[in-house]
Amino acid sequence: MGDATILLIGHRMVPRNYPHNTYPFRQNSHVLYYCGISRPDVALVMGPDGDALFGPPEDIDDVVWHGPHETLEEASAKAGISDVRDVAGLSEWLRGASDVRYIQPYQDNVINWMADLWGKSSSEVSSGQCDRLAAQICAQRSVKTEDELAEIEEALSVTRAMHLASYRATRPGAKESDIVAAVQQVALSADRAQSYNPIITVRGEVLHNNDYHNTLEPGQLLLNDSGAESRSWYASDITRCCPVDGTFTERQRAIYDVVLQSQLAAIDAFAPGVPYKDVHLTSARVIAEGLTALGLMKGDPAEAVAEGAHALFFPHGVGHMLGLDVHDMEDLGDVVGYESGVARSTQFGLNFLRLAKPLETGFVVTVEPGIYFIPALIDRWRADNHLCDFIDYETVETYKGFGGVRIEDDVLCTEGGPRVLGPEIPKDASEVEAAMQG
Ligand code: GLY
Ligand code: MN
Repeated sequence: MGDATILLIGHRMVPRNYPHNTYPFRQNSHVLYYCGISRPDVALVMGPDGDALFGPPEDIDDVVWHGPHETLEEASAKAGISDVRDVAGLSEWLRGASDVRYIQPYQDNVINWMADLWGKSSSEVSSGQCDRLAAQICAQRSVKTEDELAEIEEALSVTRAMHLASYRATRPGAKESDIVAAVQQVALSADRAQSYNPIITVRGEVLHNNDYHNTLEPGQLLLNDSGAESRSWYASDITRCCPVDGTFTERQRAIYDVVLQSQLAAIDAFAPGVPYKDVHLTSARVIAEGLTALGLMKGDPAEAVAEGAHALFFPHGVGHMLGLDVHDMEDLGDVVGYESGVARSTQFGLNFLRLAKPLETGFVVTVEPGIYFIPALIDRWRADNHLCDFIDYETVETYKGFGGVRIEDDVLCTEGGPRVLGPEIPKDASEVEAAMQG
């Protein structure tokens, strides 16, 4: 960044209902990446004169209420930072410094903090991101080191146990919240946070369903999209589906197998230099072929994908970057997923593709195709006769209530081919059925 000084501002405690009752603290991932310091109210500056960490000094009240802990100096020393300053001096430093570059904070309380410190308006702060800095950070964080891969794989070992517990707990009469409890029990007893709010539901067609109120009924599918964080805050992100009564029906198995074939084809397509958009389109084509064979789609599958007809069933992108964030670095915007000058497609389905640019060695990406039967979307498309050359609406109608299937793994791109990270988690339909028996 030449003579510029980089400011990375950390997170603050976020109040839930009054200032001292807070949400669990989670540090900003850029701060974690560059110094690994997980405590509120710190700011890391990196410039031509070296690095400094601003933070709150030791406070006896804090020790009384929260106990003794590592000092800021000790934490900074581990990060190789010897210049530790009282955060009370941050405003004066900021107002006196020249050419400070930052990336846009996204939590309102951090935006407002930075605005106060700097004497700017919150909208000035929100629009002042340095795009070059964002691109540089993205380039560094996108390529995972062996240490980072070890973190993700360690998180995945906890996630595997979460999914095995979920398979075993799934049965008619259990509630979605019982499965959430089984999953959380594993993570909590391993002293882990979740990388994101688990999606555990018999209404798998609701893509980001965070309610857990339904009772599991025979004939339903349970979708579990959940993942633990590593001790150093790296994410994992896994989705598995299983039949509530332990055995897939013929219809469920047929759809499940199409999703699995699509996921395996997408993983096979992994190679450095291959645009992730092509991987997405490969998985979409396998879905269109499978649904055509099942009579839900018709016509030429390749043409159907080109027109976006598969998106009635597969309306999201096939995956995203994974790292310290479950959707890694998406706070930086489309610089993460799209090459400079390339805009997202406006076609329904492709517009939700978060990663389109060519894969590189060291990228860790999720591969998570799915097939969903979304009643409101089916009704809307059918009423408009939308893409009716490719969709057999009469047959689709009979699948309302089916729910959804998604299968997701976390995959590393290497010169030698794709590497599915972490220990295996049962995903062939027969392995899933066996895992449900414990
Ligand atoms: N795990 C949720 C998602 O990838 O969006
Ligand atoms: Mn995901």
